[in-house]
Amino acid sequence: MSRLIVVSNRVAVPQAGGKAAAGGLAVAVNAALKDRSGVWFGWSGRITEEPSDRPVVTNRNRIKYAVIDLKEADFQEYYNGFANRVLWPILHYRVDLAEFQRADLSGYVRVNRLFAEHVSKIIQPDDVIWVHDYHMMPLAKYLRERGHANRIGFFLHIPMPPPELIAALPRHGEILGSLAHYDLVGFQTESDRDNFGRYLSTRGGQAGADPNIFDIAGRQVRIGAFPVGIETEAFARRARHAGRTNYVRGFRRSLAGRKLIIGVDRLDYSKGIPHRLEAYEALLRTSPEWQDRVTFAQITPKSRIEVPEYIEMDRFLSHKAGQINGTFGDVSWTPLRYVNKTYSRSALAGFYRAADVAMVTPLRDGMNLVAKEFAAAQDPENPGVLVLSQFAGAAAELSGGALMVNPHETEGMAAALKRALDMPLDERRERHERMMAVLLRQDIDQWAESFIEALMPPAVKPVTAAIP
Ligand code: G6P
Repeated sequence: MSRLIVVSNRVAVPQAGGKAAAGGLAVAVNAALKDRSGVWFGWSGRITEEPSDRPVVTNRNRIKYAVIDLKEADFQEYYNGFANRVLWPILHYRVDLAEFQRADLSGYVRVNRLFAEHVSKIIQPDDVIWVHDYHMMPLAKYLRERGHANRIGFFLHIPMPPPELIAALPRHGEILGSLAHYDLVGFQTESDRDNFGRYLSTRGGQAGADPNIFDIAGRQVRIGAFPVGIETEAFARRARHAGRTNYVRGFRRSLAGRKLIIGVDRLDYSKGIPHRLEAYEALLRTSPEWQDRVTFAQITPKSRIEVPEYIEMDRFLSHKAGQINGTFGDVSWTPLRYVNKTYSRSALAGFYRAADVAMVTPLRDGMNLVAKEFAAAQDPENPGVLVLSQFAGAAAELSGGALMVNPHETEGMAAALKRALDMPLDERRERHERMMAVLLRQDIDQWAESFIEALMPPAVKPVTAAIP
């Protein structure tokens, strides 16, 4: 059997403490690799002035986790700069926040070339290579230049906007156009896939009978929708156990019988946290009967803390949290518990199970695994309610069971919160069942299998012309 070589910026190297890396990518890739043999290559998360020529390797089961350090200039230009100040905002439809600098693009290209150099040394001819996320778009191009004809797939964990928005990215042809060097490019939703299909069409890729296969410069690239799932059964089990730990019981006791609303998001402007807090405020103001009967726990680990837009968001949220507690709180009631800690996945599973309502209300999100994990963590006899943004990728699968909201409408979200808090048991069960049926059918194993299966068939034509 061929090995699977996974490449991504972050690598969730197993750690003794068991604290999971924040973000859906690490969770999904880890689960996809667990029953396979292979290598996961990426950045160690460390900055060094003289990075070693050789990755640091950790062996665990049949997986080798191989990581390299980056130099300060790489970290600034590639990670903080092009990936997180240009690609991230534009792909999340926030062209207004993008800050393009040529030096950052050079850093992005430089790090992708460096990754290709390292990965090139690991690859054997029948390995299958699976590259993840926006940090690594041109990687296949540099591997092809080094003569690797392996099957190479790419999966984008975040949204793909329409071509009219991509046009705002200077030199987009060099970056997004280079995705044509993969054999398969996967997206979270059909609408992301179709946006990219329209982009490829504007670049002269000729679709034949199958609208998802493009001939570009003599190569065939296939595009597809592969919504990321979770380890549904294992997570439900984890939540059952975690719900009984002293830690989670203590948390529940501290609520003194009040209902619990929960929000769990990495600190990011795409998550719509300010809009959500406005809605909570509106609920407390317009439905005063809920004052002192509900607590909102917003758990928000920080990342990308050197990027100015994140510094700004951090300040804003701390201020907003203080304002809500100052306005509505009492000596014996803190309406909003705003926490910047990273919790273990078990603790989160327990918190989800303890919660009556989850607010997952991003302005734009590739998938959002919190929505799925919250649903899976519920007690089927007495489940909580998911309030979900129509702009999360998860909406395509969970709209039958969640209360759907538009995060730009404060009153609508406040009304959904109230409805969720008041929802009778029968309706909660019915909604939960509908979500569980989807989550069991489309779990993480199904995601990984279907992507790898679609990547396998050898349909590569000879390269006849250069692709940007
Ligand atoms: C999102 C991205 C991931 C990223 C994660 C955490 O889930 O899709 O690629 O790893 O956020 O962000 P960070 O910048 O800390 O890696």
